[in-house]
Amino acid sequence: MPSSLSSHQVGEPSILHGGDYNPEQWLHYPNVLNEDFRRFALARINSITIGVFAWAALEPEEGCYCFDWMDDIIERAARRNMRVVLATPSGGKPNWLAQRYPEVRRVSPEGGRDPQHGRHNHCLTSPIYREKVGAINLRLAERYGHHPSLTLWHISNEFSGYCYCDLCRSAFRQWLQLKYENLDALNDAYWSRFWSHTYTSWDQIHHLDKSVDGLVLDWKRFMTDQCCSFIRQEAEPLRRFAPGVPVTTNLMLWANCYNYWELAKELDVISWDSYPNWHSDCDGEFDESRVGMETAFHHDMFRSMKGGKPFLLMETTPSQVNWKQVSPLRRPGVNRLNGLQAVAHGSDAVCYFQLRRSRGSSEQFHGAVIDHSGNENNRVFREVAALGECLEKLKDVVGARIPARVAIIFDKESKWALEQCSSAQTENKNYTETLLSYYLPLWKRGIAVDVIDSQASLEPYTLVIAPMLFLLDASRAENLTGFVKRGGTLVATYHTGLVDEATRCFMNGAPGPLRQVLGLWVEEFDALPDLARRQVCPLVNGEHGLSGTYEARHYLDLVHLEGAEALAVYGEDFYADRPALARNRVGKGRAYYVASRNDERFTDDFLGFLLQDLGVRAALSADLPKGVSAHCRTLGHQDYCFLLNFTPRPVDITLQDESLEDMETGDCFNTIITLQAFGSRIFRRASLQTSGKL
Ligand code: GLA
Ligand code: ZN
Repeated sequence: MPSSLSSHQVGEPSILHGGDYNPEQWLHYPNVLNEDFRRFALARINSITIGVFAWAALEPEEGCYCFDWMDDIIERAARRNMRVVLATPSGGKPNWLAQRYPEVRRVSPEGGRDPQHGRHNHCLTSPIYREKVGAINLRLAERYGHHPSLTLWHISNEFSGYCYCDLCRSAFRQWLQLKYENLDALNDAYWSRFWSHTYTSWDQIHHLDKSVDGLVLDWKRFMTDQCCSFIRQEAEPLRRFAPGVPVTTNLMLWANCYNYWELAKELDVISWDSYPNWHSDCDGEFDESRVGMETAFHHDMFRSMKGGKPFLLMETTPSQVNWKQVSPLRRPGVNRLNGLQAVAHGSDAVCYFQLRRSRGSSEQFHGAVIDHSGNENNRVFREVAALGECLEKLKDVVGARIPARVAIIFDKESKWALEQCSSAQTENKNYTETLLSYYLPLWKRGIAVDVIDSQASLEPYTLVIAPMLFLLDASRAENLTGFVKRGGTLVATYHTGLVDEATRCFMNGAPGPLRQVLGLWVEEFDALPDLARRQVCPLVNGEHGLSGTYEARHYLDLVHLEGAEALAVYGEDFYADRPALARNRVGKGRAYYVASRNDERFTDDFLGFLLQDLGVRAALSADLPKGVSAHCRTLGHQDYCFLLNFTPRPVDITLQDESLEDMETGDCFNTIITLQAFGSRIFRRASLQTSGKL
């Protein structure tokens, strides 16, 4: 089955077009409910996500359940052949629960227990919370698990944050005991003789001492495990009563608190909530290329969390949000661009937060498909409806994959360890920005990229880019070394292999276990203040795509070659003429080391050269103007090509040896395609694999 969704989903596969719907807020307004379903049909909304934050309506008092309203909503949806994404309500706890069982409320690092307020603030460890969530989930699973409209389980909402209550702290100590077995091992891992922090009994591990880097990293791993086990427990009755229905939770961009690569293992399908900063430029030009590129990166990352299987855009706003300092309206065309971008990167859904805007409370001014005006004659609704019509024409795209030969490694533990450590460069570590700087040249050329974990299989790839892999352990190092030996091309950078999995420095210097495969040793690294620059020059002008002089900033490694050869050197300071770019040939492959944080032109020239050298093809044979991206999804003998214009100007794209059919109009193109301002178009072509062009 190509789709990521339930095997007993309604009718033919289709791209989900729906969103969060909270009818429990409107039970006393029956006309509103009727009106909603009328407008859903008009906007081609084919799916509703219900139950998110509905706990108080489903269980108004402990043990007293009330499902009538949900029965009614699901039946209304079923009558219209709509799909139902059913959420468990644990993202927000009812007042009776918070009042009767204080232990379910989180405790701050300082030890104060939260009052009942807001949401997403329950203790993940509390046995009572787990039990109460289990009870309501069981009722939902029993009642709706076999409903033919049930397409997907949506666990809770945007898991995030930590709790520091005694239950959590004691579970953490048990977790540490299991991991280290004895205190000697723990003290050794934490290098705790430093500042006399040696632990002599387990109960001394109480306060999260921020000066012990290894402890802080373990806390994040522990909290990730707690979240995983919470998800597992939530999912248990759902999987038992509805074995064919996949389980997801809506992930988000800013959740630095858990390792999503671990959470992904608990889920059947990945979904995420995307709220790009469209139109945030102060200059009023509204060139959205940068935001488009960043959003693309994150779509690629979420898709890669399940080995490239299609993901779901679970939430996005059709217009404004209400939680940024300033939230501009999406300009005409941008809602379509935003939705089709997700599909282009592998989403089989475009879902909104929210379908109907709430009347009161803190999200009454958040964008929605249906607003307060009492009719559908408004721009946002029309744009949503038009996108719905377009998505109906894309049903063949459901399940299509993106065969990427290039991967960028996003290593969450490296990111955490880097953020935590005190070193010569604390201001501008910029882990994610660094990954983006390597992603940009690929995105603008229309190269398919997976954004993967360092433990992922590297088999499918020709080129793996692993920037700032600060933390390394044996398995990460073996994965990369094996890849190179088998013929892969690896690009590593400054700040690789400085610490082990416990955050201790390697005793053979940097890059630790990658020293051999990279063929060099990093003796020291210079840290420059933000505005300072140093020259980088190719050894032979014009070779390896490099020409002229480049600029490095922030990080400059001083390297000794141990088998690698220099391709570029620094042009100034006391380290002039020392290697800035090196290549080591190992087995059938090559490992490059970029020793400094270089300007955009360097990365563009260098990656441009590698792609050509390795014969990595773009999604489309065309010259892509700046701010236009091209993507291709493949299924069977068909390619589905997306062209997206992130600029506020119309653009022409000149095709080279391509024959494309517009999936909305049926028009065929083989020379020039025009995209309107913020325009987006989808084409069909015979798969490159079948046409023998690959
Ligand atoms: C998140 C939440 C939603 C809603 C939106 C608002 O994504 O999951 O419940 O609050 O933010 O943008
Ligand atoms: Zn707790």
